Amino acid sequence: MKLWSGRFEKSTSKLVDAFQNSIKFDWRMYKQDIKGSIAHARMLGCKGIITKEDADSIIKGLLEILDEIEKGNIEFKESAEDVHMNIESLLIERIGEAGKKLHTGRSRNDQVALDLRMYLKGEIDEIVMLIRKLCALLLTKAEENLDVIIPGYTHMQKAQPITLAHHIMAYFHMFCRDLERYYDCYKRTDIMPLGSGALAGTTYDLDREMIAEELGFCNISQNSIDAVADRDFVVEFISCCSILMMHLSRFCEELVLWNSQEFGYIELDDSMATGSSIMPQKKNPDVAELIRGKTGRVYGDLMAILTIMKALPMAYNKDMQEDKEAAFDAGDTVKDCLTVFIPMFDTITFNKDKIKEKLKYGFLNATDAADYLVKKGVPFRDAHEIIGLMVNYCIKHNKALEDLSMEEFKSFNPNFYEDVYDFIDIKNCVIRRNTIGGPSPEMVSKDIEKGKEYLGL
Ligand code: ARG
Repeated sequence: MKLWSGRFEKSTSKLVDAFQNSIKFDWRMYKQDIKGSIAHARMLGCKGIITKEDADSIIKGLLEILDEIEKGNIEFKESAEDVHMNIESLLIERIGEAGKKLHTGRSRNDQVALDLRMYLKGEIDEIVMLIRKLCALLLTKAEENLDVIIPGYTHMQKAQPITLAHHIMAYFHMFCRDLERYYDCYKRTDIMPLGSGALAGTTYDLDREMIAEELGFCNISQNSIDAVADRDFVVEFISCCSILMMHLSRFCEELVLWNSQEFGYIELDDSMATGSSIMPQKKNPDVAELIRGKTGRVYGDLMAILTIMKALPMAYNKDMQEDKEAAFDAGDTVKDCLTVFIPMFDTITFNKDKIKEKLKYGFLNATDAADYLVKKGVPFRDAHEIIGLMVNYCIKHNKALEDLSMEEFKSFNPNFYEDVYDFIDIKNCVIRRNTIGGPSPEMVSKDIEKGKEYLGL
């Protein structure tokens, strides 16, 4: 029998039961549901809304159910609709009359909001730990590669020389912003909605603060309608996940490129790559590609929740049941991706010789050559034009700027002297890029130190 069957003359169609139940996915919140119910029952007992004995027997019954679920002894029923009513029915089955008092002054609407908030707080904690682990790894890798010069790109064209450490630290900063976003999202998830009832609060003298305290919430909601109608925290959570996935995806895209024979900058560890069923020579960067691909599904989760919520009138509507699969999937995907990305990145070998070879071509020092002329008094715009002509000449003669003879330099501008060779040496080009935030080893090591401080390392 359904917990709400009184008003009905017919039992629910099997078709409707199968369609509308959420136990097939919301069973995952059983721990949160039981913890929330225990706090609610304890409060009801303390306030004298139910007797202390009833409260105690409810708490005991719920703890036993929790234990049995963890042991795998409980089979949830689709006919009991969702995790909340499954657990309540189990309780009533076990302890009888007292069990029927648990739902006093509560609705599934504030109950589900509570459970989901608790669940997502846990997810944020886990994700934050993984991001911090990744950030710490990036700091280590940056430190190991402080002096490794690599080409920097814009438009996927060689642009100016940078260091590998500087490149890695760009990702460090991206993931630090992700951390901040999750911390911020946590603040707005950490609001306790119980006591809002179906939408209009309750006539019982509940102690909402007591529940918040027991469940570790910092705040309680201040409007009962908003408390049951709000899923902004889900939207925010999946937004955080989407932005994080975007960062991981960009990182993975670069690793795929760098792993190609055309680049050859990196070698993946054999344990982190896969082969082909037909081409014996292949070693594919499947992990990076799959993370890139999974970004799409997290964006899908974000579109789903935004679209589900966009035209809902106050307050709770059943549409909102669709929030959970999106939130669960986004959390699962982010955790999975971070968990595999970390060892994949940790075990990459940087082919430093190959990278060095690539520095020679692509005129990475062209800006510096222009800067050389500026130092000798030529206005930058003129210097830019002169070096442009020289680059054109070099392309035609298959040379790099530093391959030109002094006569060739002079033929373009009389302000070139022997010291130009040293000035446009790639290493010096990087060392001179010493503005705050620049790629010089000196600046990057300062940035790494600040990063360690930020992570408390
Ligand atoms: N299973 C529902 C959900 O996930 C729980 C809340 C149901 N409330 C209701 N009035 N039908 O949203």
